[in-house]
Amino acid sequence: MNITRRSILLASALGIAAMAAGGAIAASPPLEKKETYKVGFAQTESNNPWRLAQTASMQEEAKKRGWQLVYTDAAGSAAKQVADVNSMIAQGVDLIFLAPREEKPLIPAIKAAKNAGIPVILLDRSVDPSLAKPGEDYVTFIGSNFVEEGQRVAEWLIANGKDKTKIIELEGTTGSSPANDRKKGFDDVVAKNPQFSIVASQSGDFARDKGRQVAETLLQAHPDANVIYAHNDEMAIGAISAIEAAGKVPGKDILVLSIDGGKEAVQAVVDGKIAAVVECNPRFGPKAFDTAVAYANGETIPEKIINPDQFYDDKNAKELLSTAY
Ligand code: AHR
Repeated sequence: MNITRRSILLASALGIAAMAAGGAIAASPPLEKKETYKVGFAQTESNNPWRLAQTASMQEEAKKRGWQLVYTDAAGSAAKQVADVNSMIAQGVDLIFLAPREEKPLIPAIKAAKNAGIPVILLDRSVDPSLAKPGEDYVTFIGSNFVEEGQRVAEWLIANGKDKTKIIELEGTTGSSPANDRKKGFDDVVAKNPQFSIVASQSGDFARDKGRQVAETLLQAHPDANVIYAHNDEMAIGAISAIEAAGKVPGKDILVLSIDGGKEAVQAVVDGKIAAVVECNPRFGPKAFDTAVAYANGETIPEKIINPDQFYDDKNAKELLSTAY
């Protein structure tokens, strides 16, 4: 163990002792200033274009800077992601970028990294704020404002829905921050407009086939539904198949609304099958690595760093299609 790492561990241990004695809460461990770093990126899964775009952005940026990237894919399992983070700790990475699959199960791994003197930056998904805090347990969160994404979809529907008012909601992975926040943002706006109602809301786990299956079941149970709001493109594309299998026309009989803004979904907007999509920007690399450098330089890092998101509907989808990931 080098001297710096040993002194960080000592500082971390002293912080824990101070906490036990009722003293100040230890800050997130510092990052030594160096020319290059060995950093971890603990990805949650790789089953959709959004995740692939995010991973590619991180890998490109590491290559550009000559940093070593220890990459893991938890394949949709929070338990594996905890093991992945623990393995990164054992490998002595300088910093961990973590996209926590769900809000609660990754907390022990975040705390283990802190206790090992390794700073963690949360990418894209966040954790339960009552269990872990920016600046203390992790450095910061970088990602989209998921509540706002849900609000933007709902506001588009209120302004453009006309006679389309009975909504089926396809939720993302249960317990994940995008599912929780996209639901809150959307449902709160709908609740203020009583002519609209959510007739059913169920998880499709952010996956295309699960989204299709859930949409099929809910369309049978609610034949009067005329809007499907999906928390991501994959489920929206699955829902289009379900609508067509039910003998209905997406975009005419049933409006489909989505979040993510991958090329296939933006093409579906151009084709009239999806009515509107809020982008969830997956291009994390430059901002993630810049933030790590700023942290090593001792700059003050905000608690949240929010990515800007595009919006696509029939007014701009054709023009912007080539810019979608
Ligand atoms: O956390 C972001 C969400 O996770 C994206 O909307 C989804 O496609 C991904 O799996």
